[in-house]
Amino acid sequence: MRVIIESDAQGVGWRAARFVASLVRRKPGCVLGLATGGTPLGTYNELIRMHQQESLDFSQVTTFNLDEYVGLDPAHPQSYRYFMQENFFRHINVDPGKAHVPDGRAKDLGAYCQEYEQMIEHAGGIDLQILGIGRDGHIAFNEPGSSLGSRTRLKSLTGETITDNARFFEDESQVPRLAITMGVGTILESRQCLLLATGTSKARAIRSTIEGSITAQVTASALQLHRDVTAVIDEEAAAWLTRREYYAEVEEAQSLLENGEFSRLGIGNQ
Ligand code: GLP
Repeated sequence: MRVIIESDAQGVGWRAARFVASLVRRKPGCVLGLATGGTPLGTYNELIRMHQQESLDFSQVTTFNLDEYVGLDPAHPQSYRYFMQENFFRHINVDPGKAHVPDGRAKDLGAYCQEYEQMIEHAGGIDLQILGIGRDGHIAFNEPGSSLGSRTRLKSLTGETITDNARFFEDESQVPRLAITMGVGTILESRQCLLLATGTSKARAIRSTIEGSITAQVTASALQLHRDVTAVIDEEAAAWLTRREYYAEVEEAQSLLENGEFSRLGIGNQ
């Protein structure tokens, strides 16, 4: 896993947006996997700025969101569909017919989850999946104990997640108990993953994800099995990592390589 440590949340948003923008420019019809929560907001804001000021074009892009609460209407201000509409979609030129968020009001939820998987497959699979992380190390709504091979399905939220997400609702009793979520297996099939984390509350989860053992108790740790994951995190979220020096050395070597400064890498000195 590549680990990029930025000084603050703004730096994380800036860096992550550059990853996304570079893919959109290289492959205008790419498929993006999107996440909700406070963490990716900086990334979305920077992408919106790039769309408005640098003509970043989303017209051919397809998107799939990770998850949605069960029972909330898409127009409900706390639904993830509403979140995406307000914070991203309505500010860019994505085709509304290509911007998918799971439907938490589907009549047959089991069949709908399978359909969502098929829609991702028909679109050609996800090129780049953006991920936040819960305090307990969950990705999407794959709570601790979720199968690391799981697919899109219904999931009961833990008390901790309900409490964390209560800040968006009037009170905790209004937070839905169930969600539709892409599975860990679904996420692992994306071609590239971008894991974002900011703030001290994520430090423990980030340590377990990057330097801990692979376990269903920390579903983000399954990303260690993925061949192309970049974690972009801030200093606070990186606070518990023990190999920070090495991650910085890797980044330095990478930029020397990109700038053709081979002699400083000991290449061609013999
Ligand atoms: C929810 C979402 C996750 C998100 C997590 C953290 O559980 N389902 O996708 O990563 O919250 O949210 P935040 O970025 O607000 O800390």
